Amino acid sequence: MLKQLDELQESALQELERVSTLESLDQWRVTFLGKKSELSQLLRSVGQLPPAERPTAGKRCNEVKIVLEEAYTARESAIKAAVLAQKLTEEAIDVTLPGRPMRLGHLHLSTQTLRQMYAIFAEMGFQVFDAREVETDEYNFELLNMPPAHPARDMWDTLYFNESLLLRTHTSPGQIHAMRKYHPEPIRVILPGMCFRYEQVTARSESMFHQVEGLAVGRNITMADLKGTMYNLARQMFGEDRRVRFRASYFPFTEPSMEVDMDCIICKGQGCRVCKHTGWLEIAGSGMVHPVVLRNGGYDPDEYSGFAFGLGVERPAMLKYHIDDIRHFFGNDLRFLRQF
Ligand code: PHE
Repeated sequence: MLKQLDELQESALQELERVSTLESLDQWRVTFLGKKSELSQLLRSVGQLPPAERPTAGKRCNEVKIVLEEAYTARESAIKAAVLAQKLTEEAIDVTLPGRPMRLGHLHLSTQTLRQMYAIFAEMGFQVFDAREVETDEYNFELLNMPPAHPARDMWDTLYFNESLLLRTHTSPGQIHAMRKYHPEPIRVILPGMCFRYEQVTARSESMFHQVEGLAVGRNITMADLKGTMYNLARQMFGEDRRVRFRASYFPFTEPSMEVDMDCIICKGQGCRVCKHTGWLEIAGSGMVHPVVLRNGGYDPDEYSGFAFGLGVERPAMLKYHIDDIRHFFGNDLRFLRQF
């Protein structure tokens, strides 16, 4: 029996060497340590041995049992450690890898252009004055020297809420707000903001767009001041060698009125598709503030004079960045917006 026990121990341990999963380990335990195992049977049969042999056989049985149990525990922890190690390598996270970059947002191209204009005008002493986008007919037209049914109203296709309330078609109504706030002090303000028109939307015209209105009122303001302001703007925005020309025009709220053109930045005045082969690009409407408008703002036109201009924002940005369709600005396509 002792020999049988030795062999049993040997073969059990050999078998255990080959066990590599928890499932087969459990099977091994049933086979060698379970109730029906050889060892249990031997243990039970000790009683049938001659009394002299019983103590040694019983002792040896227990020894084998302890050896096998200890081997089992050792094997179990070895397998668990291996499983864990494998899991750790498989699920390893390289904490030194760079993180996923977060894309930062940035200012819309219109806002960037507006801020560039604010900076240029700030150097010339112009303050930003905010005016409303929802206007009355009175401010958008009447106080700007366009009584009801004035034919010049046709210059602006207007979106009305009702008979007296509308979306401003230009930033010029802000002139009246500024004058009524500041009179009789001298004024030097720009009025930036969104304007709205009931327009057929095309590559060149949107139903909403920004303008920057300028207004200077004082005792000795002349057209030379207006010209100097426009020259400075064109050159700071588009380059030192810009040429500027003034073309006689008509606006009910200025007299005289002029369109401001600068030489085409694409072809340098040679004539191209962008400037429609004229060599010139229109950048603003302007003029000397009409006496009626000055009076509506609270200034005596015999003592005060002023100049005003209305600049586009998206159009100059289109020129500067070679954008061929104004609809991109408010189309909210990030592929477009991210370029600037
Ligand atoms: N408000 C005019 C427009 O929208 C531009 C303008 C502003 C003209 C100020 C003269 C003076 O067309």
